[in-house]
Amino acid sequence: MESHLKQIKDKALEEIKKITSSEELKKIETKYLGRKGELTEALKKLKDLAAEEKPKMGQLANEVKLEVEGFLNKVKFEFQERAEEKAGHVLDITLPGIKKSVGHLHPITLIQQQVVEIFSKMGFLAWEGPEVESDYYNFKALNIPESHPARDMQDTFYLKDHADSPRRANGEAGWVMRTHTSNQQIRALEKYGVPLRAIFPGRVFRSEATDASHDATFYQLEGLMVGKDISVANLIAVMRSFLKEVFKREVKVRLRPGYFPFVEPGFELDMNCLICGGEGCKVCKFSGWVETMPCGLVHPRVLEYAGLDTKEYSGFAFGLGLTRLAMMKYGIDDIRLLYADDLRFLEQF
Ligand code: PHE
Repeated sequence: MESHLKQIKDKALEEIKKITSSEELKKIETKYLGRKGELTEALKKLKDLAAEEKPKMGQLANEVKLEVEGFLNKVKFEFQERAEEKAGHVLDITLPGIKKSVGHLHPITLIQQQVVEIFSKMGFLAWEGPEVESDYYNFKALNIPESHPARDMQDTFYLKDHADSPRRANGEAGWVMRTHTSNQQIRALEKYGVPLRAIFPGRVFRSEATDASHDATFYQLEGLMVGKDISVANLIAVMRSFLKEVFKREVKVRLRPGYFPFVEPGFELDMNCLICGGEGCKVCKFSGWVETMPCGLVHPRVLEYAGLDTKEYSGFAFGLGLTRLAMMKYGIDDIRLLYADDLRFLEQF
């Protein structure tokens, strides 16, 4: 057995040395190491040996196998290298590796996810809703009738040929690109009923001339809470908890009167300026306060459109400018950068 193994080894090594092509290499590999190869067959015979011989022969057989395999692999590698050189791929292990670039989320998506998480901890459900919206949900059911001047504040893109377009008297289509996420208020009340705690993040559209702080497309996040005995105190409490989570510190808020047809009373919520701590600086225009979001108690007429008894139910709503929040958080001073798809800008987040 011992001499048989050695014989196979010498023969194999001799033949491997003479290999000149990778076809030959494959043949030799099968001849010795294949399923019916000479070395494989020899190894199978080990089991017929006497018990005292087995360990020694077993070890020898293993050594022979490793040596033959090792030599074959070395030759195989040399062939590969030569083939690569011929094809022009020289293996230079000192070259730096090829870096795989991994994509990442857009700054607005990052902010949106963070805000959604904060509100879901407070029990708010999140629903994006449609971007193409009927005049009814975007305006009318929010107490903005057709001739109301508030429509001028939110001029948008009207859809001419939407399949469901009811034509207005003047021939204009009744479908629009939604001007705000408030379109979701009635939709959500219809779908989920009361009591309801919900937020509606998403893209909105306005017929705006573009400049550093305005664009025809931007992102908002609407909040709505409707139930029994919901008051301004609840609104303030929720807003303060939210702002505290976003900015990771205690935040003071104040309410000023603000007008929106779908809230009564309506407010502008300001937070104390975190840059100067209320002392007055450029960011807060030396007032100590930064205008943060419009909000108010849901107008009874809106609740009526949602089919609710206004003696029993009340609620609050607020509109958060997600784009503006992202700009504040990351110190971005031009809105156009966010949608310009310039990787030199986006890769910084
Ligand atoms: N929808 C209003 C806007 O886009 C903001 C708002 C939302 C105001 C909720 C009050 C309550 O301007």
